Amino acid sequence: VTGRLILRFPGTPAVSRVWVERGALAELGAFTRAVTRARTAVVVSDSRVARWYAGRALRSLRRAGLRAALLRVPAGERSKRPELLAALWNRLAALKLTRADALVALGGGVVGDLAGFAAATYLRGIPWVGVPTTVIAQVDSSIGGKTAVDLPAGKNLAGAFHQPAGVLVDPDTLGTLPARHRRAGLAEVAKMGMAVDSRLFAWTESHAGSLAAGDRASLAEAVARALRVKARVVQGDEHERPGGLRSALNYGHTTAHAIEAACGYRGPLHGEAVAIGMRVAGALSVETAGLPEAARARQEALLDALGLPARMPSTPLPRLLEALGRDKKRGPGSGARWVLTTRVGHASVPRLISGRLVRSALLRAGAEA
Ligand SMILES: NC(=O)c1ccc[n+]([C@@H]2O[C@H](COP(=O)([O-])OP(=O)(O)OC[C@H]3O[C@@H](n4cnc5c(N)ncnc54)[C@H](O)[C@@H]3O)[C@@H](O)[C@H]2O)c1
Ligand SMILES: [Zn+2]
Repeated sequence: VTGRLILRFPGTPAVSRVWVERGALAELGAFTRAVTRARTAVVVSDSRVARWYAGRALRSLRRAGLRAALLRVPAGERSKRPELLAALWNRLAALKLTRADALVALGGGVVGDLAGFAAATYLRGIPWVGVPTTVIAQVDSSIGGKTAVDLPAGKNLAGAFHQPAGVLVDPDTLGTLPARHRRAGLAEVAKMGMAVDSRLFAWTESHAGSLAAGDRASLAEAVARALRVKARVVQGDEHERPGGLRSALNYGHTTAHAIEAACGYRGPLHGEAVAIGMRVAGALSVETAGLPEAARARQEALLDALGLPARMPSTPLPRLLEALGRDKKRGPGSGARWVLTTRVGHASVPRLISGRLVRSALLRAGAEA
């Protein structure tokens, strides 16, 4: 399942070339040359990822004849903010980067979203190459062209769609990722299975033990499989039309975003919040969308086997409900919209759910009355 794929987006000239292969990082230079015409590549990374992988990335770029520079931001979500975006613009200008050059985002979703947005906006858009190094980034955020920074009012509130020219995925970089981040990322794999692909779900079920333990071959296969599913979904719905296929990938995310906001983004990791959100959405799906109880039980068992939390840290219900009311994806003038599942691998269009059912499901997931 590892290998190459080409993503095309109907109605746009955008093309993303994706290469998934263990050890591929050593070929970053040749890959960047092949997918862009860059003579200079500026690598954006965070301090932690740079310590592990920047040297290898820069060497490979230079070996391929590119001029290469490294820009580092501090590790962590706090780097996804407008101030750091402006700092990147100024550094790119100082390096005299042109539209014929490229940016390389080396790191997790934070670096990808920030550097991708810098690439979308500097000179009204320059090519960029994603080199995702977390499970979340490899299976989810690096594919599909969503880029953003956070604002004090909320996450991802300023951003753009800007497809990367290439995405180079080396699953072996996951070997240095802390186990907690690895497991959190696997929640997105389970989500994709539950929401849009029953085969991915079944495969993940049968490999949950080795995935949770960090077995490299299993992780590489999970990444390649999930990434293909994400690629299929975003190609059919590049800009997330209301009710389009891409919105199915928000399964579990209504609650997840509310938990993250209610905890001031210092609570559970995103993937952990997604796991709790999937359990809430699973319960609501049984109650209102005809999901068989046995399917919900399979989802519970998979999340348990991946070592993902069953309940949220104690969070006051009113704060969660307030955060739900502010969800970016709510419909005009109405409450939060819920993506539910009707069976494993099949999500329904987002819909409104009665407040009473939502409150009761959140209480069962650990919210405090
Ligand atoms: N654009 C999208 O479609 C999309 C989708 C999902 C999530 N996101 C965004 O992604 C972000 C979360 O991404 P994330 O979970 O990758 O977080 P992250 O980028 O902060 O990475 C998590 C931590 O792991 C470290 N790290 C990364 N790779 C490593 C490696 N190989 N070895 C050791 N340490 C490593 C990082 O330094 C960081 O401390 C959020 O901001 C979220 O909004 C975007
Ligand atoms: Zn997510």
